[in-house]
Amino acid sequence: MYNQPMLRDDALKGKTIVVTGGGTGLGKAMGTYFLKLGANLVITSRKADVLQKTAEELEKETGGKVLAVTCDVRDYEQVEHVLAETLKTFGRVDSLLNNAAGNFISPTERLSANAFSTVIDIVLKGSVNCTLAFGKHWIKEKQAASILNIVTTYAFTGSAFVVPSACAKGGVLAMTRSLAVEWGKYGIRTNAIAPGPFPTKGAWERLLPGDLAEKFDFKNRVPLKRVGEHQELANLAAFLVSDFSGYINGEVISIDGGEWLQGAGQFNGLEAIPTEMWDAFEQMTRSAKGS
Ligand code: HXC
Ligand code: NAP
Repeated sequence: MYNQPMLRDDALKGKTIVVTGGGTGLGKAMGTYFLKLGANLVITSRKADVLQKTAEELEKETGGKVLAVTCDVRDYEQVEHVLAETLKTFGRVDSLLNNAAGNFISPTERLSANAFSTVIDIVLKGSVNCTLAFGKHWIKEKQAASILNIVTTYAFTGSAFVVPSACAKGGVLAMTRSLAVEWGKYGIRTNAIAPGPFPTKGAWERLLPGDLAEKFDFKNRVPLKRVGEHQELANLAAFLVSDFSGYINGEVISIDGGEWLQGAGQFNGLEAIPTEMWDAFEQMTRSAKGS
């Protein structure tokens, strides 16, 4: 397994990248790598203390510059404030990484209308708000830029027990493909990453509470028999916001060890058949030739 940095030194030098939900988990991991590659980083989320702590930690670790701005992505004015603060500090912005999310497992019939719309508002409306504010800016300035959206593999398969998240991520994927076409003429590339299981505190507490993490071990669902390493995701994200991916637009890249396909193929369950039984099955299937 390769879990080391992938791009050459200074691959993102001169770029300013905004990461929503950048104070924790995968947003923090991707932001860290952007900094190591020479980018300026802006991190936003609702919790000022978490953001500040992460900003200090990352500046110390990488020697880069980090701006922390509190923002609830559900509120368009707060998103515009992030844009204004970014321009004030760094003079420009090159990429937006829509990573902030809210999610928890629940049978859908147990959800209140407010619970359902809370997740939709954070994930879909939040990504829309950020995309709209930054997109308007880039179009006005006639500046090439890129948007990267973090979705999930159930954005295209759907999933029981996380229905608000599935609806919202599906919407973000539709926005990705739509704007790739509509805003391509402005030099704005729009892509998405669909991660499989990458353990983080935020996701695991809400999706695998208690002993569910043991009972529903994600490793067993993945053909490669392991979960993802944060650096593997960071490598892909850095590539997609870099100039090396300049002709990639409207793409969604799964990084899940083959997990979603394992659930999709009708005969994939035959993995459970022990090797010694295959001789008998082969004889039976061969003898069916004459029938
Ligand atoms: C049922 C719940 C609930 C639960 C909250 N609600 N938690 N209902 N089961 N576990 C209901 C509340 O009762 C309320 O409805 C409504 O949802 C809003 O709740 P609040 O707590 O007021 O919302 P808020 O403070 O905005 O918090 C949002 C949140 C929270 C989504 C509920 O979990 C959060 O802040 N999450 C952010 C981080 C996160 O979720 N990270 C994981 C992303 S992982 P009522 O009707 O009572 O008012 C991910 C990975 C996918 O996306 C793929 C993994 C493999
Ligand atoms: P996480 O650490 O909980 O990240 C979610 C982030 O979103 C937090 O920093 C949170 O910060 C922020 N956020 C939530 N609501 C917000 C709001 N209203 N406004 C602004 N920021 C808000 O979980 P994660 O696992 O790293 O998830 C990151 C992304 O990866 C999400 O898009 C998730 O859907 C996706 N993903 C994760 C996995 C996985 O296995 N981990 C798999 C597939 C997809 P505050 O609470 O401070 O606001």
